[in-house]
Amino acid sequence: MKLTRISILFPLLTTYLFAAQPAVYGENGVVVAHDLEACEAGIQILKAGGNAVDAAVAVSYALAVTHPQAGNIGGGGFMVIQMADGRKAAIDYREKAPASSHRDMFLDDSGRVHPVKSLRGGLASGIPGTVAGMQKALDEYGSMSRKKVMKPAIHLAQKGFEMPYDLAYSLSRLNKKAEDFPETRRVFCRDGDLYRPSEIFKQPDLAKTLKLIQRKGNMGFYSGAVADGIVRSIAAQGGIATLDDLVNYRAVLRQPIVGNYRGYEILSMPPPSSGGIALVSMLNMLELMSFDSVEWHSAEHIHRLAEVEKRAYSDRSVWLGDSDFYEVPRDKLISKAYARYRMMDYDSLMASPSDSIYPLNDSELASIELHDNESEETTHFSVVDRWGNAVSVTTTLNWSFGSYVTVQGFGFLLNNEMDDFSAKPGVPNSYGLIGNEANAIEPGKRMLSSMTPTIVSKDGQVELVVGAPGGATIITTVLQVINNTIDYEMSLQEAVNAPRFHHQWQPDVITYGPRALSLETQEALKQMGYTLERRSAYGEVNAIMRDKRYGGWIGAPDYRLSSHGAAY
Ligand code: GLY
Repeated sequence: MKLTRISILFPLLTTYLFAAQPAVYGENGVVVAHDLEACEAGIQILKAGGNAVDAAVAVSYALAVTHPQAGNIGGGGFMVIQMADGRKAAIDYREKAPASSHRDMFLDDSGRVHPVKSLRGGLASGIPGTVAGMQKALDEYGSMSRKKVMKPAIHLAQKGFEMPYDLAYSLSRLNKKAEDFPETRRVFCRDGDLYRPSEIFKQPDLAKTLKLIQRKGNMGFYSGAVADGIVRSIAAQGGIATLDDLVNYRAVLRQPIVGNYRGYEILSMPPPSSGGIALVSMLNMLELMSFDSVEWHSAEHIHRLAEVEKRAYSDRSVWLGDSDFYEVPRDKLISKAYARYRMMDYDSLMASPSDSIYPLNDSELASIELHDNESEETTHFSVVDRWGNAVSVTTTLNWSFGSYVTVQGFGFLLNNEMDDFSAKPGVPNSYGLIGNEANAIEPGKRMLSSMTPTIVSKDGQVELVVGAPGGATIITTVLQVINNTIDYEMSLQEAVNAPRFHHQWQPDVITYGPRALSLETQEALKQMGYTLERRSAYGEVNAIMRDKRYGGWIGAPDYRLSSHGAAY
C-alpha cells in the first residue's frame, strides 16, 4: 500500500490534521521518509531479502540524491538499531572538527562571534561521516553487499527523478542565496535556469561519486579523487580541512541511551547527541505526574512539558558535549533521582522564569545518588522489517543545503555543522542554544547535536520508531509524540500530525506552531507568566508503530513537510 505524493497540498490538508487513518500499513516492512523515491528504495531492498539496516542504508543514500537540503554524503547523522534478537546499537557518524580547528576560530579580533563563518563557506564544514556510518552499519548489522544497497540511489542520480514541488521551490531560494558558490548554482540551480516542478532532475556528478563509493567503500570517499575534491573545494571557500582529516575519520559504535517511561523502554542516541539524555530525563520528570485528568494542550498540559523542557535544556547547556572529550554524567542525567531533584522547585500553577532555573552545579550533581534498580534542515526516517528489526535514523547537513559548498565536479554539498559547537561560552548558536566548555571547539571533536532517533519498545518488542528534524526542537518534538501516544493514547498519525510547541530554557519563551494553542490556552499561559511566540510549522516526524489490530506496522509520515511512506 503506498501513499501518493502530497507535497504541494499541505496548506489544504489542515482539516485532516487529526485524521486517524494511517498513511501506510504493511506486514513485511515499512519505510517512512521525506521522499517517496527514498521510501521505495528501502522497500526494494526489503523485498529483495535485506533487513531493516540494509534498507536504511539504501534510504540514506537515496535521500542524498532526492533531498539535497538534508539528505547527504557530505554531512553526518545517527542510527539507532534494535534487532529482533535483542541486540541494540547506536552508530555515531557525526561530523568532526578538522585537526587544525581551535576554540576561538569563529571569534573576531574583538572577541565577538562572527555571524556567518560557522554557517557558510569552508570553515563551516565538519569532516563528513555519512559514508563511514553507512559502511559501519552494513558491516555490523547488515546482510547485503554495499553494491546492492547503493543501486537504487545510483539509479536515481543517473536516470533522474521528477522534481518535487518543495525541492524546486527550495532550489529557487538557494539560487538567490548561493551567489558566491558557483558550483552549487551550477549543479542545483542550472546557473539560474531553474528546475520546475515535475521536470526530471539528473545528477551525473553525484552518480559518479556514488559509484566510486559503491566500488571502493570508504576508500572511494575518504581518499583518492573525492577526498582531493573535498579538500580543494573547502580550501577555495576559506576552510582548513585536510586529507589527513578525511583519512582519519571513523564512525563509532556507541552504547545507546536506555530509559523507561511508564513501562516502555526508550532507546535513543547518546552523546555527541544531547537528544537521548535530554529525552529520557524529560520523560522521567513527566513520569512524576499523571496526565489522566489533564486535557491535551490545555494550559496545564503545556505548562508541565515546558517546565521539564526548561530544566533539561539548562543542563544540556553545561553538561553535554562529545563524551570522547568531556566526561558527560550520562547515568546521573537519565536517572529517576535526577528527575526528582530537578522537579523539586516545580510550581504547578506558575511558570518558573528561566533566569531562576540554573544548570546543576558539581556538588548538586554529586548529591544525586544512583540506585541499582535504575536503568539507565535535518531529516529523519524510520524502517522496520518482517523480522521485527527496527532502525531509526536522523541525518543532516545542519541548515538546509549546509555550508553551500558543493564539491567541485562531484555533485554533493558539504555540511555547516561547525555551528553546532559553542563558538563562545554563553553565546547562542543559530538555534538559540547556549553551550559551554563541554561543547567548545577542539580538534577532532564532534559537535553536540539534538538529533534524537528513538525506538520505544515493550517487553522486548518494538512498538514505535520515531525521530524528527528541527535543530533544538527535535528533542521536544520526539517528547511530544511519545507523550501523545502513551499518555493521550492517540493513533500514530494523530500523534504525528498534532500541532506542537517548544521551550528550550533560553530564550524564556514558548514557541508554538500553527493551531497549537487555543486562544483560551494562550491567555491562561500568559496569566501563569509565560511569553508566547508563534512560529511556522516545524518538525517532520517520520514514525512507525506496531499495529495492535492486525499485527503489522503502521507508517505515519508528517504532513507538515510533505513526507512519505511505503510498505508491503
Ligand atoms: N544540526 C542539528 C543538530 O545536530 O542538532
